[in-house]
Amino acid sequence: MATDHTKNNHNEDYEIDTLTNDRLIKDHEYDGIRELDNDLPPWWKWLFYLCIAFAIVYMIRLWVFHSDDLIQNREYELAMASAAAAQPEKNNAAFEVRILTDPASLAAGKETWTKICSVCHLMDGGGLVGPNMTDNYWIHGNTVQDLYNTVTNGVIEKGMIPYKDQLSEQARLDVISYILVDLQGTTPAIPKAPQGTEY
Ligand code: HEC
Repeated sequence: MATDHTKNNHNEDYEIDTLTNDRLIKDHEYDGIRELDNDLPPWWKWLFYLCIAFAIVYMIRLWVFHSDDLIQNREYELAMASAAAAQPEKNNAAFEVRILTDPASLAAGKETWTKICSVCHLMDGGGLVGPNMTDNYWIHGNTVQDLYNTVTNGVIEKGMIPYKDQLSEQARLDVISYILVDLQGTTPAIPKAPQGTEY
């Protein structure tokens, strides 16, 4: 029995364990296990009060003064803006649809062509499901902007997929440049018959 050495304190709602001098909660026993009636340690109580004080200050700043830096979205925007500012100016320069002739862009374009476009247009651009890219005939126009539009929006009903979600603006421009600079005017192994208008 756990209660055989306790002293009942009639005025209070606890009992004293006469062996250890611990305070025990009255009428709170389960299988002989008693719960101590200890006060919370001062450091814990003060931490608790501090949290309440902090919450009040925080709520006033957030809801009354609308302090910007506490609002998550605003904080996110600021972080994104500062990250963008830290990037090289490439990101800030307005994107321009024009033929790229630098080797890096053409190499990147060739990679995309090989991986994705060659399935329908063949590796050498001779054409298969899709039209021949080496001749002067175009269905949807021959300017960079025309090609950019076709690759971006596709011609779904004819089987040309839109690539605006799959390829970045840069990647689309790279692959178009590859078509116009490297594939145009070459002689493919099995050229598909001309389609569209001659330019
Ligand atoms: C699933 C097959 C398929 C794939 C993959 C494909 N194309 Fe096409 N593409 C077509 C077809 C079919 C057409 C012809 C659309 C038409 O008849 O209007 C076409 C047309 C085009 C045209 C317009 C040609 C013209 O004469 O005006 C361009 C440019 C083009 N594709 C570029 C690309 C590029 C770049 C890729 C890779 C990112 C690509 N295609 C991937 C099937 C495909």
